[in-house]
Amino acid sequence: MSDSIIDPTTPRKAPKPEVTKIQGRPLKPSTLMMGHGYDPVLSEGSLKPPIFLTSTFAFESAAAGKRHFEGITGKRPGGADGLVYSRFNGPNQEILEDRLGIWDGAEDALSFSSGMTAITVLMLAYASQNDVIVHSGPLYAASEGFVAKVLAKFGVQYVDFPAGATREQIDAVLGKAKAMAAESGGKVCMVYLESPGNPTNALVDIEAVRDARDAALGPDCPIAIDNTFLGPLWQRPLDQGADIVVYSLTKYVGGHSDLVAGSIAGARKWMDPVRSLRNTMGGICDPNTAWMLLRSLETVELRMQRAGENAAKVCEYLSKHPKVERLGYLGMIDDARQQDIYDRHCLGAGSTFSVFIKGGEAECFRFLDNLTIAKLAVSLGGTETLASHPASMTHLSVAEGRRAELGISDNLVRISVGIEDADDLIADFEQALEHV
Ligand SMILES: Cc1ncc(COP(=O)(O)O)c(C=O)c1O
Repeated sequence: MSDSIIDPTTPRKAPKPEVTKIQGRPLKPSTLMMGHGYDPVLSEGSLKPPIFLTSTFAFESAAAGKRHFEGITGKRPGGADGLVYSRFNGPNQEILEDRLGIWDGAEDALSFSSGMTAITVLMLAYASQNDVIVHSGPLYAASEGFVAKVLAKFGVQYVDFPAGATREQIDAVLGKAKAMAAESGGKVCMVYLESPGNPTNALVDIEAVRDARDAALGPDCPIAIDNTFLGPLWQRPLDQGADIVVYSLTKYVGGHSDLVAGSIAGARKWMDPVRSLRNTMGGICDPNTAWMLLRSLETVELRMQRAGENAAKVCEYLSKHPKVERLGYLGMIDDARQQDIYDRHCLGAGSTFSVFIKGGEAECFRFLDNLTIAKLAVSLGGTETLASHPASMTHLSVAEGRRAELGISDNLVRISVGIEDADDLIADFEQALEHV
């Protein structure tokens, strides 16, 4: 034996092929969340993936290094087929991306350091100078601001339509966008949706948007949708014709209000330009956060089911309270068109809704200041119940006229119900309403 070679005492084992079907029956996402994309054999038998804290990965040969870089630089589509450098990819992020894709039925997914990183890198990857973005309204304020203020600096224009728009209204807006693009010498580069809209819960008719896009623009202009409020359990927009689904994983997917992350998912051809820009700019989710998200994904179905059941009970109580004017809750829609969209698109009413308190800001503040279980905080989708006043908090930067147009009134309180005991939550809302 040559004295320059150390013989390993235990020979390395090859990973096992993964089981995704039993007797032809595909396994459900909740089952796959426990192991998909990870083989303990590759990590010393560790049942759970270790956190891979490394900035770079050793190539098995120079030729392998070359092949990996062909993927990274886009010379070959689909990204690297091995691990290269931690700005591009890493084991924790790759397992996370595999598992995220499962929930939405997507071929590929990309993880980011925040929802806003996902949204801004996505838009930057598709928009060029003189292009036009069409979007639904309202959008999360930072998304709307990025389109209107940041992309505008690079000559990208936008036109929007209200979330509840009909096919005819959507056709008209796409026609206007096409005319704007023709005038400036660009193209309509993306239709960007958020449904339900925050904080009004107005739903976008994704099927109508897809038909309108196909008729006016053809299939090369992607439809992206922010599914943070209902995904991944209660709405699967790729099934209704969206091409790219976007998440703030900070919310329901992370689910414990202890991390910030984002993702996009869809067919590989839509992911490739975004992956390439992420490789250049950075913005991938870090390994520790990816690991926490893997843990969160094991319980996402359980948590969302319980939060949804709690919200239904709380809304049933609030809807009958004399100090409550009305609710913006998807389980109690009073508009036939919105109900039709809900029936075609949604699998559950979610746990984030608005309560319109009789009165205005003063009454809302008295209600909020007297809550004892629910915490006064922005964000949503955590295990704990949160309450906020959008007009004076998350949407304060939105111009007053636009706020009124979007239905964000001074008497609106947004609530994200968690997984506490429903009767305890109802008791808390009851005593807080006594102070109104
Ligand atoms: C609907 C929606 N999209 C995107 C974001 C941005 O996500 P993040 O805070 O993870 O950047 C948020 C955050 O509140 C949101 O509510």
